[in-house]
Amino acid sequence: MKKKFIFVANWKMNLNFDQELNFVTSNYDNLIKLSKTSTTNLVLCPSFVSLFPISQMFKESSVYIGAQNCSNHLSGPFTGQISAESLALLNCKYCIIGHSETRKEFSESNQDIFQKFNNLIDHKISPIVCIGESFSDFQQGKVFEILTKKLEEILNKISDLNISESLSIYISYEPIWAIGTGQRATKDHLETVFSWLYSHTQKASSLINWKLLYGGSIDSKNIAELKKIELLGGFLIGGASLNYQELEKIVNS
Ligand code: PGA
Repeated sequence: MKKKFIFVANWKMNLNFDQELNFVTSNYDNLIKLSKTSTTNLVLCPSFVSLFPISQMFKESSVYIGAQNCSNHLSGPFTGQISAESLALLNCKYCIIGHSETRKEFSESNQDIFQKFNNLIDHKISPIVCIGESFSDFQQGKVFEILTKKLEEILNKISDLNISESLSIYISYEPIWAIGTGQRATKDHLETVFSWLYSHTQKASSLINWKLLYGGSIDSKNIAELKKIELLGGFLIGGASLNYQELEKIVNS
């Protein structure tokens, strides 16, 4: 039996509202067809303003919708923020948190990310937690030190959370130096990281349905090799997901 992968298209702020709607309208039938492949789970993460119309368009289809971030607060006077509760009402099944771009732009701490994680769990949205090291940390051999810091809050507290059995928890390894750069870590490095992630997540709780993802300069040329990494359950795709033909090649490769 062929392995099933999740493909998460993170559009970031690359397209404006019209362009996002145009993408889904012009590729609607293809996206539905692609999402029905037995080896594929397809998730689109447009910007906040497009979540409502796009989730309406794909209601009751197998194309899932995810958000690119959420607030660490539940509700209240937090100008400019979006709650996990609102995302759940929009039928978002996934939410990316801790992306290196949001960690940097909004000075997010690991505690903030844990709060977001907790809020998403409470609203039955699968968190996609991004973790990764800078190039200088990579060069200095500090990868596991950084990943430990970014994950410890979640791993230490996860067994106290009430996580619905049907909810998968996604951890996406995204070396910061591989995001949008065309550079990628070697398969050997990725295999080492994913076996480390596998053992640490299992140790934190073997009852949870963990899924390990990779993100960073994925394209239709390098995806075949990535799919061979045994512990990988899917991919977070930025730039290459903005072109439907390229996205289709990545999924079908
Ligand atoms: P990229 O982005 O595919 O453009 O490198 C990946 C990500 O940031 O999730």
